[in-house]
Amino acid sequence: MKKISALLLLLFASTLLKAQEHESYVKPADTLVQKKLRQWQDLKFGLFMHWGPYSEWGVVESWSLCPEDEGWTQRKGPYGADYYTYKKAYENLLTTFNPTNFNPEKWVKAAKSAGMKYVIFTTKHHDGFSMFDTKQTDYKITSPRDPFSSNPRSNVTKEIFNAFSKENFMIGAYFSKPDWHSEYYWWPYFPPTNRNVNYDPAKYPDRWQKFKDFTYNQIGELMTGYGKVDILWLDGGWVRPKSSMDSKSAEYKKAYDQNIDMPKIAAMAREKQPGLIVVDRTVSGEYENYTTPEQQVPNEPLDHPWESCITMGNSWSYVPGDHYKSTNQIVSLLVKIVSRGGNLLMNIGPGPDGDWDPVAYNRLSQIGDWMKINGEGIYESTAVAPYSEGNIFYTKNKKSNTLYAFSLSDNDKVKLPGTITLHLKGINKVKKVSLLGVDRKIKFSTNAGALTITIPADLQQNNKLTQTATFKIQY
Ligand code: GLC
Repeated sequence: MKKISALLLLLFASTLLKAQEHESYVKPADTLVQKKLRQWQDLKFGLFMHWGPYSEWGVVESWSLCPEDEGWTQRKGPYGADYYTYKKAYENLLTTFNPTNFNPEKWVKAAKSAGMKYVIFTTKHHDGFSMFDTKQTDYKITSPRDPFSSNPRSNVTKEIFNAFSKENFMIGAYFSKPDWHSEYYWWPYFPPTNRNVNYDPAKYPDRWQKFKDFTYNQIGELMTGYGKVDILWLDGGWVRPKSSMDSKSAEYKKAYDQNIDMPKIAAMAREKQPGLIVVDRTVSGEYENYTTPEQQVPNEPLDHPWESCITMGNSWSYVPGDHYKSTNQIVSLLVKIVSRGGNLLMNIGPGPDGDWDPVAYNRLSQIGDWMKINGEGIYESTAVAPYSEGNIFYTKNKKSNTLYAFSLSDNDKVKLPGTITLHLKGINKVKKVSLLGVDRKIKFSTNAGALTITIPADLQQNNKLTQTATFKIQY
């Protein structure tokens, strides 16, 4: 059953991705944005973090507040039976949120050693809890009602951005446009019925205007008081002008126009952060500078910049005892994504104490061991046809005539056959083949577009390689 649904999901995902590919990507006109996008595309591997008081209960981020009957919105625990009691208890988590082990330098060290080059942090998720010292609401980590507010590092967004900036990471602010705490989005006069605004903005324009101002002001705060920000990652794509929706879709008829005024937000944000990459997620057009396939790996390269966001565990939020992907699975994901020209944004959910599960550190350290040897085929690379053959995935260095062939192992240890044949167009002039991490001469021959590599007998079973055997092909 599980297998069948995984298969269905895959099928569904590939149709979704096809749709995404055909949607019109709009190249940003601003040359500073173009430049930053190119730099960002070279980074390949980033850290995503979903963190908020929901980690105290170890439940899904925000979604248990959403009155839609989906698998991921179910309420659990002692307050689950009644919606309003639950919402109150959820929002009351602020009074016990006290992550005293918070130490972003520890995260930077681990992320850096794994070869991650940028970070995206949930400054505010759909529940509306601000993980920064906003002046627009008291529902925030620095509220006097939150015990952590007396901690000198309570403005965690600032601390995280500073710590990662010091190590030259690109900095990204995840920010949810929908806000299920704001009375300007879920007006208490009406009950919420789904994820959307719960009143008609056209009928109550003053209230909607207040929501627009609130959003603009919060984003303004993030763009001014938090050092250099490179990416504004806006989630909650249902907050969009109705004109941007497919008028033939079933949703179109019942949807309200939720125009948040992106041109104004983006202009303000870019004035404060020149070259800022804006990701108005799933709202294709001028403000979706790259696309974000979620928990998916596209089969083919996309015709624009993109990033797959994928959880290291099963959940975006911290869940005690979550099942983490193995190092081998994570490296495979990275290689597959990079072979299609994308970036991998890998999520770790910090716990209520302010630290990660030790398993996450272990994974990052092993990825780092692999990256030290194989990273040269990852960074600053582009996709190259045929992208992969079986379990072998290709990349090409942007600046030199160098190809990389990553032969993925299905576990930590690498075993190699006697010969490997690669079919790459136009590489009849190969000068040298080497095996990364192995200081040995590697024999090869070429014949009509095929490159055959001979693996020395003793290396086939006994080598110190992990996860992949990576061949560097210079021509
Ligand atoms: C999913 C989740 C959302 C999360 C996002 C990250 O859409 O529902 O909570 O923030 O993935 O990409």
